[in-house]
Amino acid sequence: MSAPPSPPRDRAAVLCGLAGWLPSRVVTNQELAGRLDTSDTWIRTRTGIGRRHFAEPGQATSDLAVEAGRRALRSAGVEEVDVVIVATTTPDRSCPATAPLVADRLGLTGAAAFDVGAVCTGFVYGLASAAGLIAAGVAERVLLIGADTYSTIVDPDDRTNAIIFGDGAGAVVLRVGHADEPGAVGHFDLGSDGAGEELIMVAAGGSRQRSTPGPVAPQDHHFAMRGKEVFRHAVTRMTASARATLTLADCKVDDIDRIVPHQANLRILRSVAEDLGLPPERLVTNVESVGNTGAASIPLALADAAAQHTVQAGEHVLLTAFGGGLTWGSCLLTWPALARIDDPHKTWERQEP
Ligand code: COA
Repeated sequence: MSAPPSPPRDRAAVLCGLAGWLPSRVVTNQELAGRLDTSDTWIRTRTGIGRRHFAEPGQATSDLAVEAGRRALRSAGVEEVDVVIVATTTPDRSCPATAPLVADRLGLTGAAAFDVGAVCTGFVYGLASAAGLIAAGVAERVLLIGADTYSTIVDPDDRTNAIIFGDGAGAVVLRVGHADEPGAVGHFDLGSDGAGEELIMVAAGGSRQRSTPGPVAPQDHHFAMRGKEVFRHAVTRMTASARATLTLADCKVDDIDRIVPHQANLRILRSVAEDLGLPPERLVTNVESVGNTGAASIPLALADAAAQHTVQAGEHVLLTAFGGGLTWGSCLLTWPALARIDDPHKTWERQEP
């Protein structure tokens, strides 16, 4: 998107609540190597991933989204919002959207609720949508949840994709505030290139494949990715989008305290940080312990970083993401002082009353 205007200073979206949630089933590289032709060393070397979480049979994306959403509302200390947005590639059903169901289960019946489909860029697109609704005066408070259950669409026998993806959910609460206060969500860069549709795809299940006569091949229901090309696009697009955001905000790379990219693959993240000229210690990553969790990955990484105090109030944080579509997007924010953050790796150990 070219040269969007600066966010209005008196109706900026301010991040005031954050949470992540992971299903309890941990799948290690060793477990995958027990049934696939792969190894812990190969997976760690090529992706930096050591383990991931999978939803239990019968557990759907909304189940994860509700858990993350409930904790984000608690983190923000609020019980009501005007809008619920769920960014996901794995909605419970193709119709209706997942967000109204999540809103209802959170006691937010009546709130506007819709899904955002931008694959792994979904959280950043959702953040821009939420900020826009707040800036336009349509909403005072928005709950944005990134949630995905890739284990439901990845072929468990596909060794290239089965090692990469995990399930999870992350959520933020945004409220109306001022552009100068900590938590303010700043400039955005968003973009897409539909010519890359075939690089990341689930072929069947939508209107295109359904109109094809004859039976659907089982693999067409599975997630497919051309890994090497995706790798190159991910590095190039995230780096360019991050740079565009800095230019819009009139910021230098040195002004950035933390970069939180979509947690695709550690090699991708390191390349993006290096290409931007950011030292490795400013890179926030939790891909080792969760894998690529799609639209959940950025809020989960933020929740992890906040719980471990690796990001401090007042720091300038740059988010950047890339995903199927192709889509990409980046955003700047000043880290807020959050009252309460639960460790996403521990929340599933405690059942909510
Ligand atoms: N274990 C062991 N070997 C594997 C393997 C696995 N899990 N998956 C693939 N291989 C093999 C391939 O078959 C190939 O063998 P060959 O040389 O005999 O043909 C070899 O490893 C190299 O495969 P290649 O696809 O070139 O590997 P790569 O270094 O590109 O790594 C990915 C593969 C998928 C890890 C890498 O391309 C990647 O991370 N891409 C981006 C994925 C991503 O982040 N997507 C999300 C973006 S939103």
